Amino acid sequence: MRIAVLGLNHGYTFASEALKMKGLTLVAVAGNDQLAMNRSKELGVTHYQDYKQLIDENELDGVIITLPNRLHKEAVFYCADRGIHCLVEKPIADEIEQGKEMVSYCQEKQVKLLVGHHRRFSSQMKQLKTLLDEGIIGDLIGVNMVWVLAKDRPYFEAEWRINAGGGPLLINGIHDIDNLRYVTGLDIESVYAIGKNNIRGNKVEDSVSAVLEASNGATVNYYLSDGIPSPWSYEFNLKENAKYHFYDEDCYYFFGTKGSLAFPSFRLFTYADDAYGWEHPLVKSNFSTMEKLDPIVAELTHFIKVLKGVEEPLVTGQEGVKTLEVLEAMRRSLVEKRRVELNEGSSVKG
Ligand SMILES: NC(=O)c1ccc[n+]([C@@H]2O[C@H](COP(=O)([O-])OP(=O)(O)OC[C@H]3O[C@@H](n4cnc5c(N)ncnc54)[C@H](O)[C@@H]3O)[C@@H](O)[C@H]2O)c1
Repeated sequence: MRIAVLGLNHGYTFASEALKMKGLTLVAVAGNDQLAMNRSKELGVTHYQDYKQLIDENELDGVIITLPNRLHKEAVFYCADRGIHCLVEKPIADEIEQGKEMVSYCQEKQVKLLVGHHRRFSSQMKQLKTLLDEGIIGDLIGVNMVWVLAKDRPYFEAEWRINAGGGPLLINGIHDIDNLRYVTGLDIESVYAIGKNNIRGNKVEDSVSAVLEASNGATVNYYLSDGIPSPWSYEFNLKENAKYHFYDEDCYYFFGTKGSLAFPSFRLFTYADDAYGWEHPLVKSNFSTMEKLDPIVAELTHFIKVLKGVEEPLVTGQEGVKTLEVLEAMRRSLVEKRRVELNEGSSVKG
């Protein structure tokens, strides 16, 4: 299979992994800044400033699009017109309507579209989904999710990160919300989110408290902040990315009619046999977790299988749109300071 990577910041991980994979040729990479040029030299791969020229001048089976979000739709359409299958990074697009247009266009052109919610390829996430699907805690009643850490100060030197749309909700929260949708299989029907900027005082949220209501009636508490020193976040607790320090802590808790499950420790608390109620001791069990695979590598391996026609995209364009819809509803809720139903329609701007 012959592929190209468009964008070489986050895309650099894909490009370097692609070079190590059997049955895959990384034909070229694109990027229009100095870092991209340096990285393509280091990788020893043909570099293009103009990603459209790259597509026009090479025979490709698939393309990995890690360009800024505003270019996702344009790049997917350009590939679809030429019958090239796409892995497009999350969020699928800047706006829900664009995402929907990408889905229909790829269907019309019979091109496969995989959206880069790579945590769905995590072995720990898959194990969590299996346990919840098997009903290990009974019917799901509630969830508590936390994503709290402190980003370094230079991160906020980029202007877009201190203005509307550049906050942690869309950049980081989208991962937790997609995880939630994936492991529970539930749709989110309404959200209420309060955003605050009390830590840095920028024109964008630095912390969010949200309550989400799912299609089975389960409710979810979600707290997110990128300005508080804390060990509780997916990044710090799952040990999937060597870039982050590891803390042996939990970031998600699932509460059901039969028991409660913490993630990623997989500590399960239930009552034994016929016992039930607070006068009985809870029984604590642990599940040995599977091998911790790099989800980016697993995602890339899946994409090759999609290109070969032996697998269908695990994260479809429709799934990418549904996750984006929840995030847009949360953003709308914190701007308009009210509960938002997911079926209300048009998205908030700014
Ligand atoms: N799945 C994840 O965990 C994850 C993590 C980081 C980023 N992302 C996603 O990846 C995408 C890229 O994010 P990033 O942080 O790498 O962005 P970035 O802005 O740091 O880098 C963008 C890259 O695209 C190139 N580029 C920009 N405009 C171009 C153009 N017109 N022609 C050719 N090249 C162009 C730049 O040279 C650069 O290499 C975003 O959609 C982001 O949400 C996903």
